[in-house]
Amino acid sequence: MRKRPILVVNFGSQYVQLIARRVRELGVYSEIVHWDTPLEELLEKEPYGFIFSGGPASVYTEDAPLPPPEIYDLGIPILGICYGLQVLAHQLGGKVEKSDRQEYGRARLRIVKRDAVFEGIPDEFDVWMSHADRVSLLPPGFETLAISDNSPHAVIADRSRKFYGFQFHPEVVHTSYGKELLANFIYKICGAQRNWEMGDFISEKIEEIRKTVGNSHVIAALSGGVDSTVASVLVHKAVGDRLHCFFIDHGLLRLGEREEVESYLRSLGLPLQVVDASRLFLTRLKGVEDPEEKRRIVGNTFIEVFEREAKKVEGAEFLLQGTLYPDVVESAGIKGSAKIKTHHNVGGLPERMHLKLLEPFRELFKDEVRQIGRLLRIPEEILGRHPFPGPGLAIRIIGEVNEEDLNILRRADAIFIEELKKQGFYNRVWQAFTVLLPIRSVGVMGDVRTYEKVIALRAVESTDGMTADWYRFPPDFLDHVMRRIINEVRGVGRVVYDISSKPPSTIEWE
Ligand code: XMP
Repeated sequence: MRKRPILVVNFGSQYVQLIARRVRELGVYSEIVHWDTPLEELLEKEPYGFIFSGGPASVYTEDAPLPPPEIYDLGIPILGICYGLQVLAHQLGGKVEKSDRQEYGRARLRIVKRDAVFEGIPDEFDVWMSHADRVSLLPPGFETLAISDNSPHAVIADRSRKFYGFQFHPEVVHTSYGKELLANFIYKICGAQRNWEMGDFISEKIEEIRKTVGNSHVIAALSGGVDSTVASVLVHKAVGDRLHCFFIDHGLLRLGEREEVESYLRSLGLPLQVVDASRLFLTRLKGVEDPEEKRRIVGNTFIEVFEREAKKVEGAEFLLQGTLYPDVVESAGIKGSAKIKTHHNVGGLPERMHLKLLEPFRELFKDEVRQIGRLLRIPEEILGRHPFPGPGLAIRIIGEVNEEDLNILRRADAIFIEELKKQGFYNRVWQAFTVLLPIRSVGVMGDVRTYEKVIALRAVESTDGMTADWYRFPPDFLDHVMRRIINEVRGVGRVVYDISSKPPSTIEWE
């Protein structure tokens, strides 16, 4: 069954995903659309309403993103947030100007005219602002419903056409009553019906997958990560053993990882084949130092091995992928953004093998996938695993990869992770790992000069991996990990802690 959405029109806001999420949390399906999406495409989705996101541009500049003006003739309610409010004001005949008093951070909002959008909300409350431009003249038909010290038009509305504008951000947690404001807009103003709940999502997805797949077979490359595991359990529920899962050991896994992943995937009842291709990968990586070259070799070899195995499955028509919404946005290519790293995936394979893609989580975020995993009774231990990059330890050994260095890195990594779990830090960081550096350093152990390798510890906090900050461990914890690594891992004589954030650095070193 198709769900009528609230469409979030993206003008380049860093919060656009958050807006869509908030709407879904309130029980209405929501999708994000680019600002220049043709109107026919928007109408096909039968939206209850539009939310115009914020954005970095100024509406009065020449190349400012603006939606087709006919969007105002559809009779569909619109809420403009920040830049979105300015779009409404600008296109409907008002005026937006650069403000001499910019407003960033907390501001006090005062309601001057009561309206359904404020139901259940007090006359004054704190909101979170972030703007340099402001509305200096309201468009015809609009009135001011709320003000702040620096914004004489902090909430505006044309109530007859159901167009609303908020100069502040209701989607962020720093705005009190933000959720209530959004709920009032989607239920009271748009008249949306509750149509989104994770439990329904699962049963509807299973139905949809059954219909799509029919009698054919689905193949999946499992990494043991959260997304591909939850996706496989879901598809397994839908098509049973016509799902064929492959776990490819590329020899670049962590200590004991193959056994661990194999055992939990089997305990979930998944039809699984484990393929040991480590020799092949390590041979191909011999002598290669360049990070991009290593990524390409691992990616291409992975596709080759997977294709060879997948070809043995008769009637395979679909390739399952645990693609998430942020991946969709990234691969759609934000205009002008540069390629930082070649990400490892099974790109190219669907065309070559004439497979169709099955991507049940395309519109979801990672924590929503975790929520589905919980409803599918997948153990918390699996759902809480840190992300692990496709090229594995190949990009955590700086320079050439060899068996000896892999063993050093594995043992150091296992100590770090073990201590994180033991001391309760594992679930507080987004990702933690060790990196082996291609240098040696002088030390002294028992009066003897040593000249040994260097391990870097990396641990970051993040919400989506796009930005990250280093985790502030208590010094005693780092001290303990350093001691254990140097004492227990032969060949390591120094441990350093990486305090770079992303940006300017990235999470992985290569
Ligand atoms: P970076 O290093 O780009 O990493 O800041 C962001 C997140 O992505 C993971 N990562 C990868 N994941 N294939 C993956 O599936 C890859 O090739 C890859 N490279 C990086 C990284 O571990 C972090 O979580």
